[in-house]
Amino acid sequence: MISRTMQDALNAQINLEQYSAQLYLAMSAHCAGKSFKGFAQWLKVQSAEETAHAAKLVTFLLDRGGQLELKPIAAPNDDFGGIIKVFEQTLAHEKTITGRINALFELARAEKDYASEITLQWYVTEQVEEEAHVGEVVDHLHAVGDQGGAIWYLDSKMGKRGKA
Ligand code: FEO
Repeated sequence: MISRTMQDALNAQINLEQYSAQLYLAMSAHCAGKSFKGFAQWLKVQSAEETAHAAKLVTFLLDRGGQLELKPIAAPNDDFGGIIKVFEQTLAHEKTITGRINALFELARAEKDYASEITLQWYVTEQVEEEAHVGEVVDHLHAVGDQGGAIWYLDSKMGKRGKA
């Protein structure tokens, strides 16, 4: 049986993953509105991944006899600015998530909750990947700038995500 403290912390993380899905969907719509269909596609796939991250935690919580306590999902601010800003905000958001996952992992250790620790290991690894991928996109965007032809090439590359 999962502790009340861990249950609350996992419920908070589920809400945060759902918020991430919401945030990336809003960013995707923002990019689509600027005719950047590729960046929009990439963010839509990212949004679906965040929903899957939440669902995986829900399954774990229920398997441990915990109770799911869904909370309202905050509406993201939709004033994202240009494409570079969108992805800088994505990277900043992923760094926040990494901090939250690390804190959850520490809590699992402190509680000697080995099952949670092992499940959270997947998220620790996932955050390394996510920060690396988004960091790469930010680097590419800084290299090409958000004006000119190169950004459209990058847009077409980004649009391949989820279509392979
Ligand atoms: Fe579920 Fe992008 O962290």
